Amino acid sequence: MNLFNVYSIVDIEIIKGRGIYLYDNKNQKYFDFYGGHAVISIGHSHPTYVNNIKKQIEKICFYSNSIKIPEQEKLASLLLEISEYNDYKVFLCNSGAEANENAIKIASFKNKKKKIIAFKNSFHGRTSGAISITDNKKIITKFNSQHEVKFFNYKDIYLLEEELKKEDTCAVISEGIQGIGGIIDPGIFFFKKIYSLCIKYNTILILDEIQSGYGRTGLFFAHQNSGIKPDIITIAKGMGNGFPIGGVIINPKFKPFNGMLGTTFGGNYLACSSGISVLEIIKNECLIYKAKKMGKIFINSLKEIDEIKEIRGRGLMLGLNFNFKIQKLINILIKKENLFVGSSFNKKIIRLLPPLTIEEKHIKTFILKLKKALYFLKNDK
Ligand SMILES: Cc1ncc(COP(=O)(O)O)c(C=O)c1O
Repeated sequence: MNLFNVYSIVDIEIIKGRGIYLYDNKNQKYFDFYGGHAVISIGHSHPTYVNNIKKQIEKICFYSNSIKIPEQEKLASLLLEISEYNDYKVFLCNSGAEANENAIKIASFKNKKKKIIAFKNSFHGRTSGAISITDNKKIITKFNSQHEVKFFNYKDIYLLEEELKKEDTCAVISEGIQGIGGIIDPGIFFFKKIYSLCIKYNTILILDEIQSGYGRTGLFFAHQNSGIKPDIITIAKGMGNGFPIGGVIINPKFKPFNGMLGTTFGGNYLACSSGISVLEIIKNECLIYKAKKMGKIFINSLKEIDEIKEIRGRGLMLGLNFNFKIQKLINILIKKENLFVGSSFNKKIIRLLPPLTIEEKHIKTFILKLKKALYFLKNDK
């Protein structure tokens, strides 16, 4: 084997994806309720998306950011319109970690400070700055831990205020809803409070909507139920439906200068074509509204299952809390029921992040398959 072995791999070879279905090399069909870590927003190989990328490949795939690329402007204006951040600006990059890295840089360029406040259970990516604000000691090296970072519990907002009072914090960063941490919604009270504290103590507020954004929660961004407008928002995952693309949405008070940020691949023609297609499909197929509607139906159906002790999240970003470790259940769901779901840092939580195109019939099938898997788990001891 030639690959550096860092992933725990399920022994299934997927060769085709269509809508919410995946097919392996033996033509077995699977239901995708995980979207490959929340990446598949508009469904696998959506025909409009595929056609647009094909057409773009035939025209031009890449040139550097030293020339005008009108597709970047089109993507940015569509994104700001749909997300209702019309007066903000967009910086395009390639991944979630890179988006967060750039967000921190923009904040630090502005106020010349370096301390970052992040939250327990957070995940922000694996590049140096992004991993330093991730609450997982196991994956942080000595090199990454040089950054000045303080972690707080969401409920300890008053302790956090004591820290902010020192006025030496560059930025506060939070996920819209924590994903890998186990679907933890900081809540409206928290967002309103942190927003006003950041203004009061002259600190920049960064919202990482990389997993919780792009319509998944029934709003374009998860934080938008609180009415706040953070200074900077980071995006990736659902943005390209599998094509690597990330972005930073930036308040106009931050002024760019030549060379301030940069990337070779960020904003290339193919990435823009995928990004524009995703947004047009989200808009034309009313996928944000559908995510909200399907989320409600999903939550109601899940309430039938006694083994689920708590349902977390909103829309199509859901966490199912069982009172036992779920790894065996996940294996049964994949191998016996041909259903993909996700796990999290919390070993008792199943994470559901299906494409925003799921329909009621898929939810019914999910419930049936979960019931069968739980029955099998109980009777297989
Ligand atoms: C909330 C959040 N931020 C950042 C990242 C990092 O994104 P990427 O893997 O594209 O670098 C992830 C990835 O899972 C994430 O869930």
